[in-house]
Amino acid sequence: MVSRVIPVDPFDLVIFGATGDLARRKILPGLYRRFCDGQMPPEARIIGAARTEQDNAAFAEQVREAIETFLPAKKRDPKGLKAFLERLSYVAVDAHGEAGWEDLRATMRDNVVQAFYFSVAPALFGVLAERLHHFEIARKDARIVVEKPFGRDLGTARELNATLAAHFDEAQIYRIDHYLGKETVQNLMAVRFGNTLFEPLWNAQYVDHVQITVAEEVGVGGRGAYYDKSGAMRDMVQNHLMQLLCLTAMEPPARFEPDAVRDEKLKVIRALDPVAPVDIVRGQYRASGDHASYLEDAEAEVSRTESFIAMKIHVSNWRWNRTPFYLRTGKRLRSRKSEIVIHFKETPHSIFDADAGNRANVLSIRLQPDEGIDLRVTIKEPGPGGMRLIDVPLDMSFADALGPEVADVPDAYERLIMDVIRGNQTLFMRGDEVEAAWAWTDPIIAAWEARGDRPVPYHAGSSGPEEAAILMHRDNRRWREI
Ligand code: BG6
Repeated sequence: MVSRVIPVDPFDLVIFGATGDLARRKILPGLYRRFCDGQMPPEARIIGAARTEQDNAAFAEQVREAIETFLPAKKRDPKGLKAFLERLSYVAVDAHGEAGWEDLRATMRDNVVQAFYFSVAPALFGVLAERLHHFEIARKDARIVVEKPFGRDLGTARELNATLAAHFDEAQIYRIDHYLGKETVQNLMAVRFGNTLFEPLWNAQYVDHVQITVAEEVGVGGRGAYYDKSGAMRDMVQNHLMQLLCLTAMEPPARFEPDAVRDEKLKVIRALDPVAPVDIVRGQYRASGDHASYLEDAEAEVSRTESFIAMKIHVSNWRWNRTPFYLRTGKRLRSRKSEIVIHFKETPHSIFDADAGNRANVLSIRLQPDEGIDLRVTIKEPGPGGMRLIDVPLDMSFADALGPEVADVPDAYERLIMDVIRGNQTLFMRGDEVEAAWAWTDPIIAAWEARGDRPVPYHAGSSGPEEAAILMHRDNRRWREI
């Protein structure tokens, strides 16, 4: 399979925070990959901006080192690297002062797409927006890119939205949730809306329940200070899992266009019922085997922050009436596994003997690792001995079906940055979506705080706390294996 690469228009992309962690790990290596793939036209330019005083050559050297550190050798092309580094320049700017801004303005060209990536702490979003405006650097059609965390509750998210809105229109603002850039997440929309097979069954009449899991093997070591103030609810559920839920539960948009898709996602969030405390399990990992505990990783003596969460939620509308969605995410679990799984109902009546077994179809959409789609269907167990039913997978690993190059598809950041340049907001969160997600999340967190809720322990390297299994058993259901 050879994917088609359509070059984007020439652009000036300014990365604020260009010497920071995200820029080094994701943004710059991602841009380099797009360059090597021929997606970036020769006139494209990337301008690093940060506080550190350094010249273009020193910045280029830093970027080379970042690419060599964060991209495996097989994803690097030494010839392309030199040409890519020639696209880079650097301007030292003082976010709170005057220094550097005139230089930045002098660097920008007319007649090319203009984008500013705020790869900085949210506290600086407003300051940068104001400086770009004050020095008349950003044009009316400039795009700005911001990252999570987009607020820590509804109040702060509203403030951030208002700060950005003071200088930019909503159509200029690209709020990244990198889960929306993942290949299989977009495939979920292709599966739902590109086939006649699934959509008629995609509702409460045929779906028994849905499980959405984002399990991680990593702990919080190295970023404990940030994580301990967030926890799984703010770090993963309010954004990534919410987006997966929206794409799974939304009505078909009239067109695959930014506002059509985002309107439908917003309706899902607004249709979420409040969650009862009995339907939520919060966990925190304990030391086990070679793994340290959450408290050691977070360098905290005590903490009530959850590193795991499992919950049962309801989307209160006609399509999903009484169909539970079970969400689960955690750190330091047995393996890294993310999937969306649709468990269909059993057939309404079995024509076979009771001991033949009655099975239900299961459609799983694997985000990582080994992206793919698997549909379990019931067949007769081969051989003599009467009619016994078994379920077998109709498994499509993308790598098997589409060839090994599929492992080389652009990663989420690469795709999303190119969408910014193309001016396509479909895979970005709109301000009202983010606020609606916080409006649903806030009372849950407030209730924990009011009760002094403590997370239950689970062993590092396990599948999470026993209480999460009980949450399912209560409903006569089981989690999928992690
Ligand atoms: C980030 C979270 O947004 O997503 C991290 O802050 C998490 O805690 C990460 O580890 C997971 O992303 P991915 O792409 O590795 O699944």
